[in-house]
Amino acid sequence: MKPSERIETVQVEVTTACNLGCTFCPHMSLYRDRTERHVGFDEFREVFDRSFPQWHVTIFSGFSETLLNHDVFKMIEYEKARGNSAILATNGLLLDSERAQQIADLDVDGVTVTLDTMVPSRYAELRGVDALPVVLRNLGSLQEAIRSKGASTEVIINYVLMRSTAGCIRDVLDLMGREGIGSLFLIKLMQGSQSPGPFHKSEGMSWDEHEAMDYEAIRAHADRLGITVHRSSRASLHDPGCSLPSSAIYLTSSWDAFVCPFHVNNVEYRLGNLKESTIEEVRSSEQFKRLGAVFEAGSHLPECRDCACLFELI
Ligand SMILES: C[S@@+](CC[C@H](N)C(=O)[O-])C[C@H]1O[C@@H](n2cnc3c(N)ncnc32)[C@H](O)[C@@H]1O
Ligand code: SF4
Ligand code: SF4
Repeated sequence: MKPSERIETVQVEVTTACNLGCTFCPHMSLYRDRTERHVGFDEFREVFDRSFPQWHVTIFSGFSETLLNHDVFKMIEYEKARGNSAILATNGLLLDSERAQQIADLDVDGVTVTLDTMVPSRYAELRGVDALPVVLRNLGSLQEAIRSKGASTEVIINYVLMRSTAGCIRDVLDLMGREGIGSLFLIKLMQGSQSPGPFHKSEGMSWDEHEAMDYEAIRAHADRLGITVHRSSRASLHDPGCSLPSSAIYLTSSWDAFVCPFHVNNVEYRLGNLKESTIEEVRSSEQFKRLGAVFEAGSHLPECRDCACLFELI
């Protein structure tokens, strides 16, 4: 990867904690044995002042629940005040009317909320907490706050596509239509570095199955409701493949830098630490060059094989 002149996207994991226990999420394998850590505003400002002054999008997300960090709105406010864009990812559980108002007041550029079933019992089975009604109510408050403030915040629904959720797309589109939410991302269930347990075996769909879905019907329904739909694409395996490495960076809550969140289980992919170094030092490191050569040659890392994070419009 030839580094582009500047980093366009900085994804930062501001906490390692989560309030759900989604069966399919690497959160469990990543953090089960680690101490909980929340990034404080002062350290955020120190690292971002040094390495990312301006002209980027900061994505507040990781395999954790961003809203569990009490300083996250201060961080967003800081980024917005410096002219950067901010995107917040959440499971929606803590998105009460007060936080919805903060999002609208700060004119946060994007909020992704995860929703992939309208069946409360299935939600509870998948996520370990019987909280679908709370998420639906919170989505309503969020849209209401955005509308009444006249904010430009785009709400995006993240939908993890697996066997037991594939039949709910229409219902979720209908909900989005009622709430005025205009963007849906269908994410193929990733196995990650976990070995394929019974859950992934029964719920995971192959790329061929994924691509054989009736996207014509989904698009027609979404078009009627004014919703755009993206779905995971296997672009990561194509030549030239993933372009993220040259323009994006992922930071863990301990400020370790990686190309993306799917590499964090392999220390060989650690590019450096932004508490100890600047982004320029990280990007001129031997490690960055070594990984870069792989992507530059039109190839990918073994971890990319299962990646469902590159999208195409359906
Ligand atoms: C890791 S979460 C972070 C934000 C927040 N905790 C949430 O659940 O929305 C980001 C997105 O990744 C999805 N995700 C988690 N594990 C996944 C997996 N194994 N395959 C596909 N998507 C996954 C989540 O459902 C969510 O939509
Ligand atoms: S998908 Fe989100 S909410 Fe669920 S366990 Fe993972 S990080 Fe937590
Ligand atoms: S895992 Fe996916 S997003 Fe990450 S570098 Fe590989 S292809 Fe790109």
